[in-house]
Amino acid sequence: MVQNFNNDFKLNKKIKLAVIGGGYDSTIAKTHLRSILATGKYEIICGCFTEKKSKNLKNSQFYSLPKNRIYNSLKKLILNEHQNIDLALVLIPPNKRHSIYHQLAEKEIGIIAEKPFEGSFKKAKNIYKYIKRKKIFFTSTYNYLGYPAIMEIKPLLKKIGIIKNFIIEMPQEASTLKYSKIKKWRTKDITIPNLHLDLASHLMSMVIYFFNEIPLMVNSFENKNKNYVENAYTWLQFRKFVGQFWFSKNTTGKTNELSIKIFGSKGSIEWMHTKPEVVLLSNNKGDKSIINRQSRNTKYLKLKKFHTYGPGHPGGFLDAFINVYEEIYNLYKSNKVNAPILLSLKNNLDIISVLERIHFSSIKKTWQKIF
Ligand SMILES: NC(=O)c1ccc[n+]([C@@H]2O[C@H](COP(=O)([O-])OP(=O)(O)OC[C@H]3O[C@@H](n4cnc5c(N)ncnc54)[C@H](O)[C@@H]3O)[C@@H](O)[C@H]2O)c1
Repeated sequence: MVQNFNNDFKLNKKIKLAVIGGGYDSTIAKTHLRSILATGKYEIICGCFTEKKSKNLKNSQFYSLPKNRIYNSLKKLILNEHQNIDLALVLIPPNKRHSIYHQLAEKEIGIIAEKPFEGSFKKAKNIYKYIKRKKIFFTSTYNYLGYPAIMEIKPLLKKIGIIKNFIIEMPQEASTLKYSKIKKWRTKDITIPNLHLDLASHLMSMVIYFFNEIPLMVNSFENKNKNYVENAYTWLQFRKFVGQFWFSKNTTGKTNELSIKIFGSKGSIEWMHTKPEVVLLSNNKGDKSIINRQSRNTKYLKLKKFHTYGPGHPGGFLDAFINVYEEIYNLYKSNKVNAPILLSLKNNLDIISVLERIHFSSIKKTWQKIF
């Protein structure tokens, strides 16, 4: 399918961006801003960073934008700026996005959505259909796919034989840390728990990237903290293998110790966030090898374009985000629908579908089929 989003886009022209949400007070906006600037391939020309006028001055300083390019309603932004922008970056809590996507798609403004796509399957399906019908550019920022070592796992999979099972974990501690400033919207679940939207969405992005499939069935146990789920253990049944997620915000002492373990008939692969540039490969003869940026024959880890500096100077989170923005630029420029580390609109919908069934399985205390 050829989309009609960038017929006028010229080689090497900067992408003109509007930012929706992502004010100076957003937890993730600074990472986006720095990554966008680091590529040198985008120009942020306007934004609707908040509905509160009192925050405009600080947002103007944060984004180095004149106050007359800052809007407190998306309607006004679209009215004044839709001719000037190529894409809009949506950096808003998941349950507030629906009408924003609609307004952007209506005016055929392409979308970069911070993950997760939406807060419920019903809304996600609705907007999925609309975006598809409008044929506008859509991509999302599943930033862990921008880690070169995580990219490297994909070609390594063939070395471990037939995939049998995996464990992916993402333990964090915001729910129990005494001085953590958890945002209000994260303390009240609506349809899919925020824990799942925040963390399990990342884990699903990796599953789709590695295996190119989603589970057939899921089953989950969850712990609650007053109004929100704060911990979950999930089993996933695929066509030919099984998997396990553990994602949590109540694991005191665990500060985003994301880890990936994949087991096959001939070996295993392991990656830990604490050593972001290393993949451990074991085989069934008892050999264990460390694959890093200096290893021969790597496909992604060795590529200079993914790193800010040489081996021994780890990049990590920010570099991965920069890589995602580099890919978005390439995708937009190329007129293609997919790029390797960017998930498609359908992938984004599938993630929301799986997350909702994961939560439902815990309520119903039974396995849930994915539809
Ligand atoms: N990729 C990652 O690693 C990562 C990390 C954190 C958050 N996120 C995602 O980013 C999104 C935002 O999360 P956050 O932690 O920055 O939330 P936040 O509450 O810290 O910030 C939300 C921002 O959106 C703005 N906003 C809210 N409603 C608005 C509206 N109607 N119009 C304009 N602006 C509005 C607020 O002013 C604020 O600046 C969420 O979807 C979250 O899951 C991703």
